[in-house]
Amino acid sequence: MINSRNLKFILSLGRIFWDSQVFLTACKLRVFDFIKEPVDVITIAKNIRCDERATNMLLDALVSLGFVCQKGKKYVVKSKYSDFLLSDSDKNVLSILDHYYHMWDDWGKLTYCIKTGKALEKKVSIELKKQFTKSFITGMDNLTKFQKERVLNCLDLKGVKRILDIGSGPATYLREILKNNQDIMATILDLPDAAEVGKEFVIKDNLEKRISFIEGDIGEVELGNNYDCVFIFQLLHALDEKKRSLAVNKAYNALNRGGKIYIHEFFLNEKKTFPRENVIFRLNMLIHAHGGDNLSVREIKNLLESAGFYIKKEYIFKKPANVLIEGIKT
Ligand SMILES: C[S@@+](CC[C@H](N)C(=O)[O-])C[C@H]1O[C@@H](n2cnc3c(N)ncnc32)[C@H](O)[C@@H]1O
Repeated sequence: MINSRNLKFILSLGRIFWDSQVFLTACKLRVFDFIKEPVDVITIAKNIRCDERATNMLLDALVSLGFVCQKGKKYVVKSKYSDFLLSDSDKNVLSILDHYYHMWDDWGKLTYCIKTGKALEKKVSIELKKQFTKSFITGMDNLTKFQKERVLNCLDLKGVKRILDIGSGPATYLREILKNNQDIMATILDLPDAAEVGKEFVIKDNLEKRISFIEGDIGEVELGNNYDCVFIFQLLHALDEKKRSLAVNKAYNALNRGGKIYIHEFFLNEKKTFPRENVIFRLNMLIHAHGGDNLSVREIKNLLESAGFYIKKEYIFKKPANVLIEGIKT
């Protein structure tokens, strides 16, 4: 007797990427921007500069996925999604969706990465690399803006005057902290292309006089010293084992005695089989970061303790499943 539920699950998982690609392609083409009001196919195809018959197919697929309504021969984006999918909305998540879209071909090479154990060596033009970095870093801000409060509420910044943010990306948390604490100064460190995008966020918030920049790889740059607090947020998973401990050791040396470190990370259980989103994300690191990996909470704590930190607190968050760990330089 065939178990049709199991069969259905297997077959639908096998082709779920078709659905993803329909959606991501529509986002990449900014289709939703052109269907705020009901619009006919000919006009939509003209606006997104695509073939009419193919645009019609794409729109019908978006109707079947539930993003778009059909009104007679016209199409309109569903209002419950428009905040997230329209370019002029401050809640839009189009950059992170572009980032997913840019990773499409890479995920197609997962077999190669599993066979060799190596990350991909991506060969793209400087222009395209900048475009990818812009979507990635802006995408981080897209995600963080919805969950920053839960992290910010856990930070104890009493007496903190200087913060170092390693792998700062858009520095979403740090900018919020500085806006609310006029006496705090900060330094942010990131790879050059990412730092360029980070600077745009800093300038937009008028914080450039209170934030200095270190551009380069955490493995190679000097951090300076005299910091009261260091953030390493969502960076450890992108580093190999050697660089992970180097980053934490360098943070230790850069801190004043009694200073604190906060690590914010995806986490895995000890068996590395849960939470699902983080287990799958490990493979994203296999593909994109040499030696990158998600760690268990115990492994992150070991890293901190080996550098000399005393673990003061840990906070486990669900959906997205992250951990925030506070360590003190003794
Ligand atoms: C996932 S993002 C996290 C950004 C930010 N900390 C946040 O939580 O929103 C990782 C950041 O680390 C940076 N990064 C990756 N490898 C790095 C390295 N070797 N040295 C310095 N920064 C690095 C990336 O450019 C990116 O900005």
